[in-house]
Amino acid sequence: TWTPDSFVETTVAALKAKIGDEKVILGLSGGVDSTVAAVLLHKAIGKHLHCIFVNNGLLRKNEFQSVLDQYEGMGLNVKGVDASARFLDSLEGESDPEKKRKAIGRVFIEVFDDESHLVEDAKWLAQGTIYPDVIESVSATGGPSATIKSHHNVGGLPDYMKLKVVEPLRMLFKDEVRRVGASLGIDKELLGRHPFPGPGLAIRILGDITREKVAILQEVDAIFINGLREWGLYDKVWQAGAMLLPVNSVGVMGDERTYEKCVALRAVESTDGMTADWVNLPYEFLQKTSNDIINKVRGVNRVVYDISSKPPATIEWE
Ligand code: XMP
Repeated sequence: TWTPDSFVETTVAALKAKIGDEKVILGLSGGVDSTVAAVLLHKAIGKHLHCIFVNNGLLRKNEFQSVLDQYEGMGLNVKGVDASARFLDSLEGESDPEKKRKAIGRVFIEVFDDESHLVEDAKWLAQGTIYPDVIESVSATGGPSATIKSHHNVGGLPDYMKLKVVEPLRMLFKDEVRRVGASLGIDKELLGRHPFPGPGLAIRILGDITREKVAILQEVDAIFINGLREWGLYDKVWQAGAMLLPVNSVGVMGDERTYEKCVALRAVESTDGMTADWVNLPYEFLQKTSNDIINKVRGVNRVVYDISSKPPATIEWE
């Protein structure tokens, strides 16, 4: 019978035999799949695994540094690459959702290719692909595997895509990946993280993206997500986040009229992201969260809650 421990044992042995002392490159996303893949490979080949974690400037507040610290604490050989400026510059003035995604995918490939050239004589590309990714075309897991799919037919292949591919989680479902992660001793909080899209906050800022808008949305998102944790709601929700809308509305602060931005909060229940129901969060929680956001985040004077299910609405607004 399948157990996480036996999976770890046989997979580590198989990876050792397959890879020997060759070098492997892996793109970490901060998500569950790439992390579990990395820890498995690290157990098998140690420092021959070279992990790359790219900051696209569109992650959650403080996420890049805290996740990087966590990875280092796990003993992974990881390089954090802050390419925020490169991503944000490429998005300047762009409002079209698909063009935003494409720009991010293209810059990711460029950055990852540059970084992989710095790992001399690498022979393998490891990916955190899991079984649902194999059978579906769009990955909800973010990271390199998700971006590769929509771009591998554009122009010539970047060099790292010519490497031999190793995908140790290819036969597993998400819950099995989490169990394997637990058996590897990976932090429970990391294993329980909500999915987060590869293009990050770019597809939650409707319209064009500026550094100021990213900073506003990071604050709003952090208040919402930290609130869910404090109220014991985080693990009851499959995914949650905030959208910055391209709408200003009138408000009043003291005796001043304001004309500021509106944010939408979204929390859904789902098993695979293909269908989703909005979550009936307690009114008291929504009330407190809305007050916190409006009082603490300058530039936002209105908060709404998204009560649309998928289908017909998607989880992300773009
Ligand atoms: P939608 O919005 O299509 O999202 O209902 C379903 C799930 O997929 C995630 N998502 C993405 N993940 N790259 C990703 O890696 C993307 O471009 C992307 N678009 C959506 C979304 O967060 C949800 O979990």
